[in-house]
Amino acid sequence: VESITVDSERGAYPVLVGQGLTARLGEVLDEHGLPAPRAVVSNTTVGPLYGREVAATLGTRAFFELPDGERFKRWPQVEELCGRWLEASIHRGQLVAAVGGGVITDLVGFAAAVYLRGIDWIALPTTLLAMVDAAVGGKTGVNLEQGKNLVGAFWPPRAVVADVGCLDTLPLRQLKAGLAEVVKAAWIDDHELLDLLDRTIEAPSDLPPERWQELVARAVAVKAKVVEADEREAGARQALNLGHTIGHALEAATGYGRFLHGEAVAWGLRAVAKLARRRAVLGAEAAARLEGVVARLEPLPGLDGVAVDRVLEHLGHDKKRAEAGVAWVLPTDSGVILGQSIEPAEVRQVLAELAAEGGANGCVAQE
Ligand SMILES: NC(=O)c1ccc[n+]([C@@H]2O[C@H](COP(=O)([O-])OP(=O)(O)OC[C@H]3O[C@@H](n4cnc5c(N)ncnc54)[C@H](O)[C@@H]3O)[C@@H](O)[C@H]2O)c1
Ligand SMILES: [Zn+2]
Repeated sequence: VESITVDSERGAYPVLVGQGLTARLGEVLDEHGLPAPRAVVSNTTVGPLYGREVAATLGTRAFFELPDGERFKRWPQVEELCGRWLEASIHRGQLVAAVGGGVITDLVGFAAAVYLRGIDWIALPTTLLAMVDAAVGGKTGVNLEQGKNLVGAFWPPRAVVADVGCLDTLPLRQLKAGLAEVVKAAWIDDHELLDLLDRTIEAPSDLPPERWQELVARAVAVKAKVVEADEREAGARQALNLGHTIGHALEAATGYGRFLHGEAVAWGLRAVAKLARRRAVLGAEAAARLEGVVARLEPLPGLDGVAVDRVLEHLGHDKKRAEAGVAWVLPTDSGVILGQSIEPAEVRQVLAELAAEGGANGCVAQE
């Protein structure tokens, strides 16, 4: 088991990464001085795979399954959970557990933040993306009609228990989307992890658990370091937005129906590699390296038919937009540079280049 400690304003918490951790969860938590959760929340996909077993292991009958999907990361589910917890007599001082991907961890974490003005929770992330990103860093929240994650709270869990064994059942497409976030983390602050990825991505579904453990733990370590430096996103935390400015805009411009988040981020990473090359903050060799690792995530759903005007429009709507326009994060040879401004015309050019290259690189639309 790898253990990474994340410092936060609510106290430090461990991120435990290992194989078979859910089966002996009670014991694992006990070793870290944490009581067993009294309620477990999962969804209708992950519940039958892992959630029910977790609840059984903990001996709790307060087990709830929410419907599966980003569209259920909304207020009504928060209210529903709070009601269920009340019925189950969950009180302050007790823990609840979230078993699922980023949707479940964001939602349960947020419900925990507001239930009885805040109770403790632990995250058991079951997607690669949730292990390396959503469950770490303390952001929780739900979506509004008007956009994603517009309501939320900083409410770090008391522990994150990432059982890489859960990745066995994760569809390959989801696994690769999660790897885009690992590439991002590696570029920000762990270039040796890039080498590991380069050797790994060929056949992610065949990767042995020890390898996953290492990949996840190293990506978590990068995120932990960044959020410790800047928990509330005033500055350094923006590094985590590498590839996300265009990524978010692509997702929004296609109505969240074409790309998984990580797939949009993969396109975003290719785009910022080009932008960074243009202004010479990134050398040719480094750019080739970044593009090479991202290319291993292909095929990605294509850019064909994506309306560039809509993408540009959504760039302006990004909630992380700075006063003077969008503050871009660009890759450099050794990491990232923050707060860069990019003209819409440049974005247009780069998107056109990417769309043209898309075919050559074997990108296909999977709609
Ligand atoms: N809080 C943060 O800092 C943060 C960071 C990044 C992303 N997020 C949020 O995370 C969400 C995306 O998370 P996600 O990519 O994990 O999506 P998700 O939670 O929707 O999971 C993807 C799909 O995989 C299924 N699944 C989960 N684990 C599985 C397993 N082990 N085997 C088989 N199927 C499994 C889920 O039921 C779902 O259908 C978004 O809502 C995003 O806003 C939050
Ligand atoms: Zn992301």
